[in-house]
Amino acid sequence: MTLEGEIALVTGGSRGIGRAAAMALAKEGAEVIINYVSNEAKAKETCNEIAAMGGKASAVKFDVANIDETKTAIEQLLKDKKKISILVNNAGITRDGLMMRYSIEDWDQVLNTNLRSAFVVSQAVIRSMMKERKGSIIHMGSIVGITGNAGQAAYCAAKAGIIGLTKSMAKELASRNIRVNAIAPGFIETDMTHALTEDQKKAIFNEIPLGRIGTAEEIGQAVVFLASSQSSYITGQTVVVDGGMGM
Ligand SMILES: NC(=O)c1ccc[n+]([C@@H]2O[C@H](COP(=O)([O-])OP(=O)(O)OC[C@H]3O[C@@H](n4cnc5c(N)ncnc54)[C@H](OP(=O)(O)O)[C@@H]3O)[C@@H](O)[C@H]2O)c1
Repeated sequence: MTLEGEIALVTGGSRGIGRAAAMALAKEGAEVIINYVSNEAKAKETCNEIAAMGGKASAVKFDVANIDETKTAIEQLLKDKKKISILVNNAGITRDGLMMRYSIEDWDQVLNTNLRSAFVVSQAVIRSMMKERKGSIIHMGSIVGITGNAGQAAYCAAKAGIIGLTKSMAKELASRNIRVNAIAPGFIETDMTHALTEDQKKAIFNEIPLGRIGTAEEIGQAVVFLASSQSSYITGQTVVVDGGMGM
């Protein structure tokens, strides 16, 4: 196992991509802390599945869009666990709508949950990584942060911001042996994409050269690669995992 002795925090680890990332990290021997905001049952289910396969996991509730709540929770985590060596900033939401009618409340919620959270959570965690002179941070972006998408201006702006944040953090933290990368998933089967209509899904399939929707597990594998020493010379990059959709 490649991640024995590591402690990973996965935001939004109760469901979807975060859950798959948490499971994959645990399979490689990392102890995993699963963050969630409302779905305690799903968070506990993921922890139990990890325990059943011989891994170690715990769940912690905090809203990544709430700065004080996030800082307090991470301070407590660092007191309890002593270190966090892998951070996956995965929690995210969509609030789709055309720009003409889009509310500032939705803009703020999307930006705060998808982008500001990555900055706030990282800021709270990096002191521990600096002390250890070791760490891997992985931000969850999206292919639409590179291509743009009608009806998703706020979401695309947040995910494009993730790319700039990744590069800047990578430059600031490289001398402390902390690597920072992003993953840009394409169309992945989760609760987030279940909301789309069959017609919307068909239109998206036609844009995917590999001809199928991706699985959360396929993103989980990319997370493990970027978390482990297998990617020891990679930092500041956005790894696109999209079946060729964004080419
Ligand atoms: N699915 C895709 O096709 C796709 C494509 C590109 C990028 N992504 C990105 O991948 C990430 C995960 O997406 P997903 O498809 O797995 O979504 P999902 O199935 O809707 O799961 C979202 C997760 O984020 C958590 N969450 C939401 N708001 C939160 C908050 N304010 N504080 C803490 N946790 C919060 C949820 O917790 P609860 O269970 O407590 O609600 C849940 O664990 C997101 O950043 C998304 O933008 C997804």
